[in-house]
Amino acid sequence: MHRAKRTKAIYPGTFDPLTNGHLDLIARGAKIVDELVVAVLRNSEKGKPLFTVLEREEMLREATVGIENVSVTTFDGLLVDFAREQGAKAVLRGIRAVSDYEYELQMAMMNRKLDPELETLFMMPGEKYTYVSSRLIKGVFHLGGDVSSLVPPNVVERLKRKVPGKHA
Ligand code: PNS
Repeated sequence: MHRAKRTKAIYPGTFDPLTNGHLDLIARGAKIVDELVVAVLRNSEKGKPLFTVLEREEMLREATVGIENVSVTTFDGLLVDFAREQGAKAVLRGIRAVSDYEYELQMAMMNRKLDPELETLFMMPGEKYTYVSSRLIKGVFHLGGDVSSLVPPNVVERLKRKVPGKHA
């Protein structure tokens, strides 16, 4: 079949830090679009992050190095403006549970209001990641818990360097 256009999507987020749930979504997204741009938000309103934007960008690059059609960058300002600059037709977001839905629906509708041409694609990560969030990972790690099956190995190493003391 002849395909006239390449589909490019943006997977935006805070990624503080990257989890296996994010990675699972990246792998799924990369299978259905031609190009997937993972974009770390620079001006997050979520309070002080544990990792710098550069560290988060690096951890994403390290973990996605084997996926050919995935690239990693950063953005600030409106996601719709960034998507337009990139020539992306869609935004990819993960929904883990019903609790994610309201926030995601609000964002998707606001983005649609701002740019009716930009579509939001929702995908579900594998069910073993439905409870995994960056916030819980940081909380558990700070208290000495083992998160090594929930984040990629490079993130475990970075967490150990960032939060010394509790982990051998
Ligand atoms: O991983 P997160 O923190 O849930 O990601 C949130 C993100 C980065 C997708 C969202 O905060 C965002 O797109 N921010 C950019 C500012 C923007 O465009 N806001 C209007 C849309 S609601």
